[in-house]
Amino acid sequence: MAERQASADDPQAAGGAQEGSPDANGRASVLFVGDIVGGIGRRTLLDSLPVLRERYEPTFVIANGENVAGGLGITPKLADELIAAGIDVITLGNHTYHRREVYAYLDAQPRILRPVNFLRSQPGHGACTVERDGVRLGVVSVSGNLYLRAGRSAFTEIESALGELGAAAHIVVDMHAEATSEKVAMGWHLDGRVTAVVGTHTHVPTADARVLPGGTAYITDVGMTGPRGGVIGVKREQAIESLLTQMPVRFETSQEDPWLMAVLIRCSRPLRADSIEQVLMPRPPAQEGTG
Ligand SMILES: [Fe+2]
Ligand SMILES: [Fe+2]
Repeated sequence: MAERQASADDPQAAGGAQEGSPDANGRASVLFVGDIVGGIGRRTLLDSLPVLRERYEPTFVIANGENVAGGLGITPKLADELIAAGIDVITLGNHTYHRREVYAYLDAQPRILRPVNFLRSQPGHGACTVERDGVRLGVVSVSGNLYLRAGRSAFTEIESALGELGAAAHIVVDMHAEATSEKVAMGWHLDGRVTAVVGTHTHVPTADARVLPGGTAYITDVGMTGPRGGVIGVKREQAIESLLTQMPVRFETSQEDPWLMAVLIRCSRPLRADSIEQVLMPRPPAQEGTG
């Protein structure tokens, strides 16, 4: 199945913004965290969350988790840990199926999304809705088609995904793509129809965060939550050796200079953003040395 609506037995996902409730006007904020890389990225996120919650009071937290299991893929245990820490929705990408043990979990857990434009026969679903503080949020994961394996077109499948999502005060689309052109185009394509289009996958944050004229918050890439001391997460000496020798090299996650990279999207009316702000911060110093 490609989409997953919140089930009635999910207490956090039941209900929706009621007319006359404090948040029926769409007031909300969303913290979107870029690709979590390895254990170091996961610990950086978990250590940063209390600081971020106090500073920004986000209604929702979404995180891309495609690199959380040792740099490639995700496991049920790690996904459960992120959800238990208050991550409302986990998005994935081209590394979705690296760990076989997650396949059944992708079908069973509504809050984890693989790109909606993968083949329908592939495990998992690409969209969901969650609810918090009387606000219903829709999240869609979609993969670019340039230099990435996605069985169907991002631009045609996003339409059916949005159509099937149902009523939501806000919609955030994670456009997981290599090419900046595809991500910029998706931002314009959805401008005025969704709250935000945020790019992931390159692990490098871009300097183009803005609210587009139609009211959709946009950034080409949020960046990663992981070690800046490596090469997009990999130990730099290994990445350089691979490029230098053109021979196979075993990649390990760098442990150097972990940072959290995210964006905060603030909203005061349905399906529109007031602002998008980059959040780029080193792992809180007091927590360093805890693993
Ligand atoms: Fe990726
Ligand atoms: Fe990634």
